[in-house]
Amino acid sequence: MDNISNSCIKAKLEKLKKIDSYNIGESTEKLAKRLGISPNEIIKLNFNENLFLPKKALSDIIKLVADQCDIRIYPQEEQNKLKVSISSHLKIPYDTIVVGNASDELIDRISRLFLEKGETAVSFNPTFPIFKYCAKRQSANYLTIPLLENFKLNVEKMLASFSNKTSLLYLCSPNNPTGNQFHKADIETLINEFPGVVVLDEAYGEYALYSLVSKVNEFDNLIVLRTFSKAFGLAALRLGYAVTNSTLAKTLSEKSPLPFPVSSFTLNMGKKLLENFSLVEKSVKELKKEREKLIKRLNEINGITAFNSQANFVLFAVDKPYELVYQELLSKGLLIKKLGKILHLDNCLRTTVGLPWMNERLVKNLKIIFG
Ligand SMILES: Cc1ncc(COP(=O)(O)O)c(C=O)c1O
Repeated sequence: MDNISNSCIKAKLEKLKKIDSYNIGESTEKLAKRLGISPNEIIKLNFNENLFLPKKALSDIIKLVADQCDIRIYPQEEQNKLKVSISSHLKIPYDTIVVGNASDELIDRISRLFLEKGETAVSFNPTFPIFKYCAKRQSANYLTIPLLENFKLNVEKMLASFSNKTSLLYLCSPNNPTGNQFHKADIETLINEFPGVVVLDEAYGEYALYSLVSKVNEFDNLIVLRTFSKAFGLAALRLGYAVTNSTLAKTLSEKSPLPFPVSSFTLNMGKKLLENFSLVEKSVKELKKEREKLIKRLNEINGITAFNSQANFVLFAVDKPYELVYQELLSKGLLIKKLGKILHLDNCLRTTVGLPWMNERLVKNLKIIFG
């Protein structure tokens, strides 16, 4: 700030310093440089991306879409066309769908619209950190109820926290980072009893046991979020959608902070992938098979407890310092997510379910670390 002399700007910058930034962590490129290896040598298992969709198949689709797309023109009908595709794919009404720049943008949009300064957002912990980040950006309070030790929702405590000041409830199911999907009845109880809007983040819905997308018309206050970043393998393109009753859907789309939140190219990629859903379906099936295998193999290692998952990642607790395990794996080019203490578990780590050879290498190295 030393090179700014304007006192007005200086004061503004000083104020902005107080707002937390969201840390997306070190890039693979920077990490590789630090480790003195090539980025290709890093097996990236830290962001729950879908490595099962072949890159070549996606590149072929990209070329097709690029050919069909006139990128000189603003996106006007593309959103509607994608909504038609989503509507027939999920068998849900067209007017319940709102397209956005991936789930993060939709969480932010909903928080801006339904959470005001001084109000309270409720969630549980541990869960996806963007909820807290978006609530704090609104200068709202963020109240969390710990999950029970078996990662189930503490419904009673959550219900007791609801009041006329709690205007937004963030639920994530399957939950990141625990991986479990909560009981449908528990989720429905919370939606029914919550006085404000409920965001149900189903980013991992395609890997899960059930979805509430077809139930949104039964509630005044439910917004389900889905993304193309996980099962559909489009994390880099930033595409997602909300499903909610038609009244909330209208508000969410008309009150979007910007007129063109998603590019035509991205919208058309989403549509094309829905037309090629068998590719996605196959990758989901393969991942689920590999997920069960990985959990079983991790649990065979003395000192590791891996938890069941209905997502594309696995949470595991270790009986050594988590930082040490993380660094040892990193030195072998295996990048996973370190979490530390979660509820009663002191040393937790999370890994994306990788391709079989990646999981093989992960298990092999963990076996070495744990003797
Ligand atoms: C629960 C959850 N919601 C949303 C996201 C972000 O998704 P998107 O890429 O659609 O913003 C993630 C990413 O890891 C996630 O775990």
